[in-house]
Amino acid sequence: MGIIFEKNRKDGTAVFLLNTPNSSYIITVLNGGIVSHSGWGRRVEKWSGNSALWKIDRGINLPDGFDLHNLSLDTLPQEYGTSGLSDFRPSAVEISLSDGTKALDLRYDSHQIQNGKPQLEGLPATYALNDKEVQTLALKLKDTLFDVYVTLFYSVWEQRDVICRWVEIENKTGGSIKIEKVMSACVDFASSDFNMLQLSGAWGRERKVYIKELVHGTQSIESRRGSSSHQQNPFTALLSKGATEDTGEVFGFNFVYSGNFLARTDVDFTESTRFSMGINPYNFSWNLKTLDKFVAPEVVMVYSKDGLGQMSRTFHDLYRENLCRGEWKDKPRPIVINNWEATYFDFDEKKLCNLADSAKEAGVELFVLDDGWFGNRFDDKRALGDWVVNTEKLKGGLPYIVSEMKKRGLKFGIWVEPEMVSPESNLYKAHPDWCLHIPGREPYLARTQLMLDLSRTDVTDYLFETLSNIFSSAEISYVKWDFNRSMTDVYSVKLDSENQQEVAHRYLLGLYNLMERLISKFPHILFEACASGGGRFDPAILYYMPQIWTSDNTDALSRISIQAGTTLVYPPSSMSCHVSAVPNHQTARQTPLAQRAFTAMAGTYGYELDMTKLSKDEIAQIAEYSELYKKLRNVVQFGNLYRLVSLWEKSDKVEKYAAWMNVSKDKHFAVVTISWIYAEALAPKIVLRLKGLDENADYKDLKTGNIYSAKELMHYGILFANMWAGNASEQILLEKVN
Ligand code: GLA
Repeated sequence: MGIIFEKNRKDGTAVFLLNTPNSSYIITVLNGGIVSHSGWGRRVEKWSGNSALWKIDRGINLPDGFDLHNLSLDTLPQEYGTSGLSDFRPSAVEISLSDGTKALDLRYDSHQIQNGKPQLEGLPATYALNDKEVQTLALKLKDTLFDVYVTLFYSVWEQRDVICRWVEIENKTGGSIKIEKVMSACVDFASSDFNMLQLSGAWGRERKVYIKELVHGTQSIESRRGSSSHQQNPFTALLSKGATEDTGEVFGFNFVYSGNFLARTDVDFTESTRFSMGINPYNFSWNLKTLDKFVAPEVVMVYSKDGLGQMSRTFHDLYRENLCRGEWKDKPRPIVINNWEATYFDFDEKKLCNLADSAKEAGVELFVLDDGWFGNRFDDKRALGDWVVNTEKLKGGLPYIVSEMKKRGLKFGIWVEPEMVSPESNLYKAHPDWCLHIPGREPYLARTQLMLDLSRTDVTDYLFETLSNIFSSAEISYVKWDFNRSMTDVYSVKLDSENQQEVAHRYLLGLYNLMERLISKFPHILFEACASGGGRFDPAILYYMPQIWTSDNTDALSRISIQAGTTLVYPPSSMSCHVSAVPNHQTARQTPLAQRAFTAMAGTYGYELDMTKLSKDEIAQIAEYSELYKKLRNVVQFGNLYRLVSLWEKSDKVEKYAAWMNVSKDKHFAVVTISWIYAEALAPKIVLRLKGLDENADYKDLKTGNIYSAKELMHYGILFANMWAGNASEQILLEKVN
């Protein structure tokens, strides 16, 4: 039983104990209905609660007396902090009420415990495969003055250390109310003894791991760009001091949303920490008419008692099994070639066929035609929105090129960027009001393009029709769905002025609805998301599209860091990685082919270079890597990931090399990869202790034939002696032999 409810306790309180295999999350309903947070951490079987309350400030008299009129909420851990009364910390919710205040006094109203997990209407979220997997608590609170109901949802996973939270607000006041802020999760930790981990960066250097100590005041990450963003990923972890890759408590939070978000940590004068995560209140409010409900998206909360590594594996398993959907969820992903870095906009059908010939020889399975195949799209300044094949470039259109690929035994995929329109396009001429723009102002361009207003159903209906036509015009097996600018000029001509603060969120609802319709209509298509690389790498996207282009930066060394940050949360199966040419197009760096290949093999694998320029020998070598990946891909995509080096744990060693391993779920097969980052003369030897093997088994090194016991490999390690620039990357394949 994941959720235990104990009512009418001696002290007059009631307690909800939310238990996962290794964690407990405790909520106490106090006399008078105030809902207090009592803890989240290692699993306990029962809760006395005797020591749980802090009694300074204006005093709380518990457990033997509870004086509601002489009470400060400021020092009492809250389950969902409100504003306007005596909690002075940042609130989780703010609602403008008809009396002109934002004061909310939320008290326990009722609750329901159900097996399974209800869907969040219109929103992506994790789902249960059966009712035994999860139990859900719906804890309904009501304001003491207005008929405003706030229901806090907690889905508690039976076999995973995961609790998923979301919030629903219902207005029964008889008039309208305005939601100005609604966090999906809020946790009051009793101490501030944490380090905060965030994944921050920019285009081309996404999701770098930053860890800093919590101090008094606010530390926050957010996006105001209308997307989950390159700059900050909607993820935060609080690490107990001293936590490492394999030890210590870690609390991970990930927001299942692709738009503006806020994740903030506030340390107060009592050294308590309030963490909250939800839709960014920036440029957001929602008018809720009477009897209407608003659902705020889900936050996934992961607890690990064994450091960051275990946290990552818990996220990976949950996302692979209970977030991704569709035919491609568990299917090994094909090796692709993408023509972007091979040709950019300069191609015709002959050039593509030549590239396909080399790619086929190199072991590729699917050909992706990137940007430039439609309308007048000879560069990135025009034609977005004109989704009609340019037959000057592609004689015979898509059916011809698909048949050419088929002849070569390759499947075919195509690039689209449906959410955008170029001012120089037929679509813009026909519907200038379809883009986001503020009447009377010149909208800001980025990459010479504007964003369509996906809060409008006429726009999403049009996109559904147009994309459906393309996807059914030929045998399309894969779609790369791009998104290449931030959201500005946030205004929809379809909405009244009082609803304009809803546009950014309505856009996301429109996008999710469009994606849902398309993936349902084309279940066989493998969709890969992209946003100038990894600008929208978030769990909400993974609900629709099981893989995402990790970064436009394909340089192997840059990728080692980007991919390490990405897989801190997201599974290798979701992370699209390509081998590209040297010198690298983004960094001008030269790296050996082995390093590029082994780095790309950390996720779903492919190529993005002009193979027609390679020698026969080089193609043969690439073909070997493709063959190797075909053997490894099940383990990499669907196995367990262990970091043997955490790039972010600053010590002398770690910046010089990276190492990780993938182990199949049955522990039968393992791949160890080591990659030298900083070349040195007479580099010191490296001893890597392996992880995640079957303790009692022996393993055979498939290259040398040597046999080792797992204990030897894990407790004594493998020696790498010749790691220098010319030998910058090595892989060891291990197979269980008994
Ligand atoms: C974005 C993508 C690239 C490529 C180009 C095409 O930058 O991230 O992979 O598809 O668009 O214009």
